[in-house]
Amino acid sequence: MKKRLLSMILATAMVATMLVGCGAKEEAAAPAKEEAAVEEAAPAAEEEAPAAEETAAGGKVGVAMPTKDLQRWNQDGANMKEQLEAAGYEVDLQYAANDIATQVSQIENMINSGCKLLVIASIDGDSLGTVLEMAKEASIPVIAYDRLIMNSDAVSYYATFDNYMVGTIQGEYIKEKLDLDNADGPFNIELTTGDPGDNNARFFFGGAMDVLQPYIDAGKLVVKSGQTKFEEVATANWATDAAQARMDAIIAANYADGTKLDACLCSNDSTALGVANSLEANYTGEWPIITGQDCDIASVKNILAGKQSMSIFKDTRTLASKVVEMVDAIMKGGEAPINDTETYDNGTGIIPSYLCEPVFADIDNYKELLIDSGYYTEADLQ
Ligand code: BGC
Repeated sequence: MKKRLLSMILATAMVATMLVGCGAKEEAAAPAKEEAAVEEAAPAAEEEAPAAEETAAGGKVGVAMPTKDLQRWNQDGANMKEQLEAAGYEVDLQYAANDIATQVSQIENMINSGCKLLVIASIDGDSLGTVLEMAKEASIPVIAYDRLIMNSDAVSYYATFDNYMVGTIQGEYIKEKLDLDNADGPFNIELTTGDPGDNNARFFFGGAMDVLQPYIDAGKLVVKSGQTKFEEVATANWATDAAQARMDAIIAANYADGTKLDACLCSNDSTALGVANSLEANYTGEWPIITGQDCDIASVKNILAGKQSMSIFKDTRTLASKVVEMVDAIMKGGEAPINDTETYDNGTGIIPSYLCEPVFADIDNYKELLIDSGYYTEADLQ
């Protein structure tokens, strides 16, 4: 009884903290930095230890994350586990090494082992329909986390950062830095986006191209590789190596003779890293503007070293807090907070969503955003 009361007090305190909203600068729980290391883990090694036998007062919540290969998912998972546990829930957190079959079986296990709600960041948004039928039959609500799960009517809610805005901020950054409205140009640009199975990638790329396409049409921006369609610039699994290999080929064919490359639109940090690695190895001209997303430590270091220009900062503490708030509302039989009922149709209809607001970090504001907010320490970036 005492324990239950304590959990309830904790849960109430937690929700009160969360109600401060989704602004990037809000105070939130400290990030689990020790979880942030990027590990090359084999699928089996990514499994978390089985959830504790003891059932927490609030019930068990399954949290399925795509991979530990990218720093952000480690932080997302760790922040959510910490905050859900503080709110009185038991958490079954699983990582699937970017392997779809592994993720499906992890979700099956969550359903069979008594999870009352699922939070899922999918590897491939189209591959979970069948397993989520099981969730629906068992009346288990599903929150799609960061990435929308497509073509399944088992998805109750979607929580993410505004993915289209991520793209427009990247496009605007390039527009401003090249002063596209005033400078004569033309400027050379190359484009790299993410995995075709990730619904977000189309929003990121679409948002950026809505800003940049008019300048391409006007001839002020030139894509010398000719690769401008989503399918041509996509990167399977968002892999750094794949982005690097593609950029190697683009440089060899178009920029090996000293032609200047002015900008590289990269939808996230893992692809920006691949592009920067390729430039370092193959390109001798003035360094281009390079965009990114996630503020991964490797990319922030590149920003400090002048090898990446900006990254989108999506404070994983903020998204985790919002999701805990949603979980808590649903588990108590209420409606989850949402702020968008128009944007995200997963093929079965619009999924009610909560969109947090992304911001960009660059050399001028990274201290305030990343250090002063407690997201990283100076030492993390050395
Ligand atoms: C996320 C990005 C991330 C990418 C690769 C996207 O769905 O929104 O933050 O960089 O996946 O993991």
